Amino acid sequence: MEKYLDMKNEVKLNELQKIASIIKNDGIVLFPTETVYGIGANGLSTKAVEKIYKAKGRSTKNPINLLVSDIKMIESVAKDITELEYKLIETFFPGPLTIILKKKDIVPDIVTAGGDTVGVRMPSGKIALKLIQEAGVPIAAPSANLSGSLSGTNLNDIIGDFKDKVDCIIDGGDSKIGLESTIVKVVDGVPHILRPGAITDAQIEEIAGDVVLDYLNKQDNNLLPSNDMAHYKIRNRCILVGAGNKQVDDVKRILDEFDDVVVICCNENACKYNAKVVLNVGNKGVLEEISRNIFRLLREADRLNPDVIVVEGVEEKRNR
Ligand code: TXA
Ligand code: MG
Repeated sequence: MEKYLDMKNEVKLNELQKIASIIKNDGIVLFPTETVYGIGANGLSTKAVEKIYKAKGRSTKNPINLLVSDIKMIESVAKDITELEYKLIETFFPGPLTIILKKKDIVPDIVTAGGDTVGVRMPSGKIALKLIQEAGVPIAAPSANLSGSLSGTNLNDIIGDFKDKVDCIIDGGDSKIGLESTIVKVVDGVPHILRPGAITDAQIEEIAGDVVLDYLNKQDNNLLPSNDMAHYKIRNRCILVGAGNKQVDDVKRILDEFDDVVVICCNENACKYNAKVVLNVGNKGVLEEISRNIFRLLREADRLNPDVIVVEGVEEKRNR
């Protein structure tokens, strides 16, 4: 790594200009977005995007989304954008939504894994947005984690995996949202939600009518190319205990059974468990708070190498 830049408290514009030139020269950069950290390179350069696959150990069958800074940039990489797609773009961009569009020839095959569509997102995080503007090209950026593992929501969790593989690291502190973007693809005029995220099904339905919850369909015809690949891998055994009246008792039963347990639970229940380590994920039902903390705490729990990690599930509320 050549450079570490601390932008936790301040977005440094002149530094971002220098980093933009790294992007323009086919380098790769680790940087924050409002969802999770990304590992980015010039999305129009095959040579640059190859470096991302290599750094992550990612299968080249799994396409990478492009981050853009304005509608013109979207139109430079995507074609035949429908009225509904424009409506989704205008409503949710910039923000935590990725939309799958028909790609133009300018987008290299390596970005789309040879397919004819490309995922596009306009981040609202200032550092990411400014970096794209300064680079003047779309930045191909998957989540900054080794392939298969949890997305990185703070630098501490990922710097060891990437410091020798990237040309620059920007520290933006903790990710505001902490979960990856919602992914939507309009098929025959109907939005399919390929991956859930901070933009809810209900928000999309409100402006686009009925939606298909593709992410609930784990079969072969799921539209997400990475559907059959491993995700969110951790080393230790992990048990998710469903929400409901019996949740606390169910967790306690597991605590009786094992000696060395790490519990990840809501603030309200943190005092109820007699475990070696109890990690507080946030106030019960406050999903924004829980999503902000969950990946960091799962990594922390995993580092402790317990017999088992127990996670309190949250109410399955599909917001519709
Ligand atoms: O919030 C986010 O989306 C973060 C930040 C860094 O922008 N990025 C992110 O990228 O989560 P990644 O690569 O970890 O996840 C992108 C997902 C993958 O599951 C990939 O298979 C899918 O998007 N994807 C990419 N291109 C696609 C396409 N053309 N059609 C369908 N799915 C696609
Ligand atoms: Mg990812």
